[in-house]
Amino acid sequence: MATIRDVAKLAGVSVATISRFLNKNGYVNEETKLRVEQAIKTLQYEPNAMARGLAGRKTGTIALIFPDITNPFFAELARAVEDVARMYGYTVILCNSDNQADKEQTYIRVLKQRYVDGILFASYSLRSDDVDALNNEKIPFIMLDRAPRETSCTVVSSKHLEGAQQAVQHLLDEGCTKIAHIYGPQDTVTGRERFMGYEQSVKHFPWYSPSLVEPGYFRVDGGMEAVENLMKRHPDIDGIFAGNDTMAVGALKKLQRMGVRVPDQVALCGFDGIDLTVIVEPEITTVAQSIYDMGMLSTRLLIKKIEGDNSEDQTHLFDVKLIPRESTRRKRKE
Ligand code: RIB
Repeated sequence: MATIRDVAKLAGVSVATISRFLNKNGYVNEETKLRVEQAIKTLQYEPNAMARGLAGRKTGTIALIFPDITNPFFAELARAVEDVARMYGYTVILCNSDNQADKEQTYIRVLKQRYVDGILFASYSLRSDDVDALNNEKIPFIMLDRAPRETSCTVVSSKHLEGAQQAVQHLLDEGCTKIAHIYGPQDTVTGRERFMGYEQSVKHFPWYSPSLVEPGYFRVDGGMEAVENLMKRHPDIDGIFAGNDTMAVGALKKLQRMGVRVPDQVALCGFDGIDLTVIVEPEITTVAQSIYDMGMLSTRLLIKKIEGDNSEDQTHLFDVKLIPRESTRRKRKE
């Protein structure tokens, strides 16, 4: 069983630094934090909870509530949450709300009864009175990804609108002359902000029409149906921005079934950066979110809250990164 000394040695820091890192009582710079986290993970070090004299911790469990267990985005998020939680000696309860507000409310009630130490909300049905209730009952929580922006709590998410603008600009740079959008649920801030990013980028073009958008519900089958409707309405579409990768995969499948060549006839771009986009052929260009980093940061912030940190609530928005691949690499029009 690795000791705190083993971790200090591997990370190349003093035991005092490790202790400051674990008890969050003193400054540790970001580079050192990453080295210490890596050393703890490598050695599978389990801090002795009693030795850390943890305040606020009741059961050593945290919960992650997410809306769709079938979407690989949330699997990668859960991976990061579990890795960091284990590093600090917490176990994770995974709760799939199936995009249903009443299921989420049931989870919250059960989690309270089980004295879970804190909750990560990657779902989005929480309303301001739910947030107030959690704050009044002093239940530490962090909202990530689809968090409604207007709530008074700590939020970890991505720059969705800018990412959508990057996607559309890339399609334009690749020579597309009429670009459609398959959008995610508009009751999610992620679906809404990407829709806004698309609309702001194209509404001034003479070819733009509100009929160039179609819902895909963040699902593969939704992407398939959306692209069929779009191509029927506008056979001259030569670029599609899908608001997430699962819809992009569905769109690719349907386009190929329709005999439409990607990217030569229609270029296709997704959003998220999940592995599915490199399993299909052609590989799909996407706007990658820092999914693992979002999971790591939100878990660290939650554990700090559980263990007594009363820092001001903040919104942390990660940059996104366009990853060009074959699905948009068009032969430039002569
Ligand atoms: O693919 C699932 C989508 O839901 C992702 O884009 C993520 O941001 C979440 O909102």
